[in-house]
Amino acid sequence: MTKLKIKNIKLSRKLCYKEETNSTNDDALSCENTAEECVFLAERQIKGKGSRGRNWQSEKGDGIWMSILLFPKLSAIDIPKITLIGGMAVCTAVRNAGFEAYIKWPNDIVIGGKKVCGILTEKRGERVVIGIGINVNTKHFDSELKNKATSLFLEGGKEIKRETLISSVCSEFDLLYDILKTDGFSALSRKYAELCITVGKKIMVIQPDISYEAESVGITENGELLIVRDGKEEKLCSGEVSVRGIYGYV
Ligand code: BTN
Repeated sequence: MTKLKIKNIKLSRKLCYKEETNSTNDDALSCENTAEECVFLAERQIKGKGSRGRNWQSEKGDGIWMSILLFPKLSAIDIPKITLIGGMAVCTAVRNAGFEAYIKWPNDIVIGGKKVCGILTEKRGERVVIGIGINVNTKHFDSELKNKATSLFLEGGKEIKRETLISSVCSEFDLLYDILKTDGFSALSRKYAELCITVGKKIMVIQPDISYEAESVGITENGELLIVRDGKEEKLCSGEVSVRGIYGYV
């Protein structure tokens, strides 16, 4: 295990680093700073949070566990778009590191059909926290996860420098966030669709009370998933439904 070398991380925002914390999302949500955008990073999370109330395995030295604290001047309806650009930033940075990564709508990053990164966005008052968990140098997953989770180490066969990837994710995020603020998600939807493995696939749409098959045909200018169900077009909003491939996770 190689320890993070903080001085090698290049960021445009202030970095708040801890060796160990419960959750970098919780740190960002509860810190006293009330205006400055910064990045919270930990070597290990004890109570890493996943989506839908699940735990997020966050071992020491294995991954990137970080949260970007933002104070966006966007309406509530536009906040999910920040999550979408978080996924785009990670996907692009991971591709630039040499991997064939894709976004599984709305914001999981997958390689070879398995999840390598998850994003959990939380909002409290003026704050929006984009929590990013990337399995970087993880060598093993337990039996429950190993069919659907992977790491950059398992895909590429060698350890990856986490410092370079953190810097790259954050600089990609900065570029996309500037575009989102000035031109809106419509300026990014085509790029998102290119990165998104869900588009053009037969999928299973899962809602609390009903699941059905549909075909995913595109991404709207608002980041919704455009599907065709029983011959009719419909739009799915992230946060309200989950989707998976009809034969597996992707
Ligand atoms: C998911 O379940 O797909 C979302 C996982 C999000 C994990 C990250 S790790 C950094 C940040 N802090 C947390 O407690 N969770 C997010």
